[in-house]
Amino acid sequence: MNRTYLGNMTRCVRVPKREGEAVRADLVAGGMLDLDARIRADGDCLLIPILCDSFGDYEVVDAEMQVQEHRPTDYREVADVPEDLRDILPTSFDIVGDVAMMKLPDELMQYRSVIGEALLKVNSNLRIVFLDDGVKGEFRIRDLQKVAGEGSSETVHKEFGVRLYTDPARVYFNPRLSSERSRIASMVADGEVIIDMFGGVAPFGTVICKNASPSEVYSIDLNPEAEHFARMNAEKNHVDNLFPMTGDSSELIYDLPMADRIIMNLPQIADRFLGFAMDRLKVGGTVHMYKIIERVDFPALCDSLVRGMEERGYSISISSSELKTYSPTMSVYSMDIVRTA
Ligand SMILES: C[S@@+](CC[C@H](N)C(=O)[O-])C[C@H]1O[C@@H](n2cnc3c(N)ncnc32)[C@H](O)[C@@H]1O
Repeated sequence: MNRTYLGNMTRCVRVPKREGEAVRADLVAGGMLDLDARIRADGDCLLIPILCDSFGDYEVVDAEMQVQEHRPTDYREVADVPEDLRDILPTSFDIVGDVAMMKLPDELMQYRSVIGEALLKVNSNLRIVFLDDGVKGEFRIRDLQKVAGEGSSETVHKEFGVRLYTDPARVYFNPRLSSERSRIASMVADGEVIIDMFGGVAPFGTVICKNASPSEVYSIDLNPEAEHFARMNAEKNHVDNLFPMTGDSSELIYDLPMADRIIMNLPQIADRFLGFAMDRLKVGGTVHMYKIIERVDFPALCDSLVRGMEERGYSISISSSELKTYSPTMSVYSMDIVRTA
């Protein structure tokens, strides 16, 4: 290991180890701890560097001490961009496993590599950084351009005790829904039949199978890459009641048994598929639907869903919560829709 030592001897107090934490805290509170040197052991004692001449009755010694590195935790402190652009550096990123994806305003585009390098420098958990040009097409895949780091976009994301294998450039995966996955898993009763109509790499299915005891979970997706990763996730997490399938869920759902629970995470247009879901939902069962919509239009959407399902022969009740803001006027809603008759 390379050690860097302070040039001069450093003034320290020699404190028995069991008293070390209390003394350190007192020194910090009094602004007397020398933050440039590392505390180190000396027999049964600790040498704690100080900025004062003495502290209590503790022995004072001058010792050779190692430099305490101050690692920045905010990439904006180390990103080598012109000062007048520092304020517009993004404050948030999408992180999936060890992959970071960032969106940049036009003014920062020419600095994308240094910004990516700065992110890697302060985040030891990250391996690679991509510029994210948004989610595109029917498969909702991200348009990614590598700006810093090594390897590919394939990664493993850990969540609630499961390891989710995915590749944001080949299949959609949303790390920000982890609390929803946990919430739904906690609602699952033993033996339930569950269908995820837009399953992706099967994060809902895998978290549910690992944290609850459904009899079977079907995870459908149009994108064949989704089935590939969903199978891998079932295998790697030792789950044998998760059944990934490729195709259009509005058709495939009719080949499946009636369900206790159906998940619909296709927030732009999921409501258009609600009739198909109701056709395969048991009375008393629940649909979990996610919907992005103008906030002012949300009550009308709920009314129209109730009326539309009535016309199809189903009674439903809807409870909802606003999950997050999507734009100044739009939000993402989480809707629990129970089939009552
Ligand atoms: C927003 S993603 C959700 C993925 C996953 N549930 C998650 O939370 O990470 C929606 C997924 O629906 C798939 N999809 C779109 N239309 C579909 C359809 N008609 N039938 C089945 N899957 C569809 C897309 O390929 C995409 O993977």
